[in-house]
Amino acid sequence: MINDDDAGASEQDIIGLIEQKGIQGRLKMIFVETPANPTNDLFDIEMCSRVAAKYSGDGKSVLLAVDNTFMGPLWQHPLQHGADIVLYSATKYIGGHSDLIAGAAIGNEPIIKQIKRYRTVLGTIADPQTSWLLMRSLETMKIRMEAAEKNAAVIAQFLSAHPKVEQVFYLGFTDVIRPAQSQILKKQCSGYGAMISFDMKGGQDEAFRFLDNLRHIKLAVSLGGTESLAEHPFTMTHSDIPVEEKYRYGITEKMIRLSVGIENVDDLIQDIGHALS
Ligand SMILES: Cc1ncc(COP(=O)(O)O)c(C=O)c1O
Repeated sequence: MINDDDAGASEQDIIGLIEQKGIQGRLKMIFVETPANPTNDLFDIEMCSRVAAKYSGDGKSVLLAVDNTFMGPLWQHPLQHGADIVLYSATKYIGGHSDLIAGAAIGNEPIIKQIKRYRTVLGTIADPQTSWLLMRSLETMKIRMEAAEKNAAVIAQFLSAHPKVEQVFYLGFTDVIRPAQSQILKKQCSGYGAMISFDMKGGQDEAFRFLDNLRHIKLAVSLGGTESLAEHPFTMTHSDIPVEEKYRYGITEKMIRLSVGIENVDDLIQDIGHALS
């Protein structure tokens, strides 16, 4: 059975679910995070925008919002594929130095006007120091992201060849691990990013032992910074998701998520190799 939020659900599956749930009249927004955190599953933005268009009309527009945090503003441009709003945790690649908390919404003028109105009411406005830090960060965003992507490609290869690693969920391996998503990758991503998840052989004990033995890479749930971070999605970022649901998405006790930074890649490989052994 396909669930409404499963990667791999076809346009007909999603339309079928909307109709089956009887929510077509109330539908206001389709929200998608692609690549999905932490599995790197891909969702077809263009297909989601067709579904949104199907339920728009008669003065009502169903908006498509895409969380593009994993791809930053570099490797995926959802507006070009039919999204109405692109959302970023600017805390991640845009800020890039783990020293600020901010968010960004991108879209056309009428949509941004509405968001601005609510922002005034709710008070979610970046303070001057955060704004200054963001301006500083934007100057290096592209080179930081490119350096992280380059490191990630080397680390993904290293992990995939390691005897203690069962499987590596990296966008660069989509053709092999998820051939059904290859076309989506080709159509909407211009890079493989710098987020890698992998399953250890074994279970939670092995995953925890790996994390405990990292010396350079820090244990933390953020991502997109200059420094590499590792975390255990099952008990950290995704701890509030019911266990059966986590299993359905492939988020298990043996999974580790890495946000690859811009350090010397040999140091990172050495750290990962040591922790694995
Ligand atoms: C994909 C994604 N979107 C949004 C967020 C939310 O970010 P923030 O904590 O800056 O609001 C996160 C945070 O981890 C994330 O990973």
